[in-house]
Amino acid sequence: MKIKYLRLNDFRNYKSCRLAVETRLNVFLGQNAQGKTNLLEALYFLATARSPRTNSAGDMVKWERAEAGISAQLEGLAGTNEVGFVIGKDGRKKPYLNRKLQRRVSQLVGVLKAVFFMPDDLALIKGGPSERRSFLDAGLSQLTGAYLSRLSRYQRVVKQRNELLKKSTSGQVAPDEFRAWDEQLAEFGSLLTVARWQAVLSLARHAANAVKRISGECLEVRYRSSFLGELGPEDGSRLEELKSQAVRELARLLPADCRRGYTSLGPHADDLAVYLAGKELRSFGSQGQQRTAVVALKIAMCEYFHEVSGEYPLLLLDDVASELDERRRDYLLDCLDGGAQVFLTATEELSGNIRLKGASYYSVKDGRIEKLSPGL
Ligand SMILES: Nc1ncnc2c1ncn2[C@@H]1O[C@H](COP(=O)(O)OP(=O)(O)OP(=O)(O)O)[C@@H](O)[C@H]1O
Ligand SMILES: [Mg+2]
Repeated sequence: MKIKYLRLNDFRNYKSCRLAVETRLNVFLGQNAQGKTNLLEALYFLATARSPRTNSAGDMVKWERAEAGISAQLEGLAGTNEVGFVIGKDGRKKPYLNRKLQRRVSQLVGVLKAVFFMPDDLALIKGGPSERRSFLDAGLSQLTGAYLSRLSRYQRVVKQRNELLKKSTSGQVAPDEFRAWDEQLAEFGSLLTVARWQAVLSLARHAANAVKRISGECLEVRYRSSFLGELGPEDGSRLEELKSQAVRELARLLPADCRRGYTSLGPHADDLAVYLAGKELRSFGSQGQQRTAVVALKIAMCEYFHEVSGEYPLLLLDDVASELDERRRDYLLDCLDGGAQVFLTATEELSGNIRLKGASYYSVKDGRIEKLSPGL
């Protein structure tokens, strides 16, 4: 899938920007604070309706302006489409597909598909489980609308069950009242667990290949489900059994949940376990090994998109030159030969390191983008 055209109005430090994209590899050069990350943020927002940097969409509206507009024309297996958002200062998002206002934001998620790599991504290994769950959710939500809607329904059920648990501490709720919530939680929870677990099987394979090629080491990635334990190869077809198992686990832990006032089991409490040479990477890996694993997981996600949807997502690489040494960067750039359209940013001082065959180069300065001559 490829972007042909991008338009930004009053988005962050861009007043009005029109960018025609003609190549697969696109490198954006500029000094600090010129708008490089902002540009990638806009592309990622068009794919996911989320910013990788903020939870309040209103932050992306240019200061002193009432709303921002972003849109892109893309070409992929589904033909040519235009996706767009108008974002209000109050954080409201209006989604447009082919210039028609859509009823729900979720209708736009995944029309454009993107994987983002940025310097903060070391948190994918170093940070808490929620970082790893978000990584999986961001990928799966773009790939299937069903996943996204189940995820949001699941999150609502957990919230409501938690409210009931809080009330129950004061003895106002009978255990029977939990039954309906537990049924729903188990149903959506087991569907989400199986979807994540299946994705991780494929991600683990691709990530292990990548690490083998970068450093020769052995990477293992496993999905750790809090209420279903380790799943086996045939479990994808045993959904009813998994659901009953989840209901039983929820009932077993109900007294403890009542004391704590929150639901302790379910996909919202799951994690990805990442091991290098048999040791948990988070606790025992060096910074370099952790970085390698992050690169590998991102590449694996691109491969997974390709496997499921038949096309590569956009790959948004923010400031990779500052974060990765030459070997990892070369590997990453090598992998890009695979076919993903790439948007890569770098500061000018570091640009000497990045010369990509057939790439277009642009300069980013004070919220303006200019194409540089091919000879640069
Ligand atoms: N809502 C907003 N309205 C106007 N300007 C904003 C807004 N949000 C951020 N900015 C400004 O956008 C500028 C560019 O930010 P961006 O993060 O894209 O820089 P960058 O080119 O990636 O720099 P670096 O190389 O340091 O990462 C910053 O100076 C920031 O203050
Ligand atoms: Mg930046």
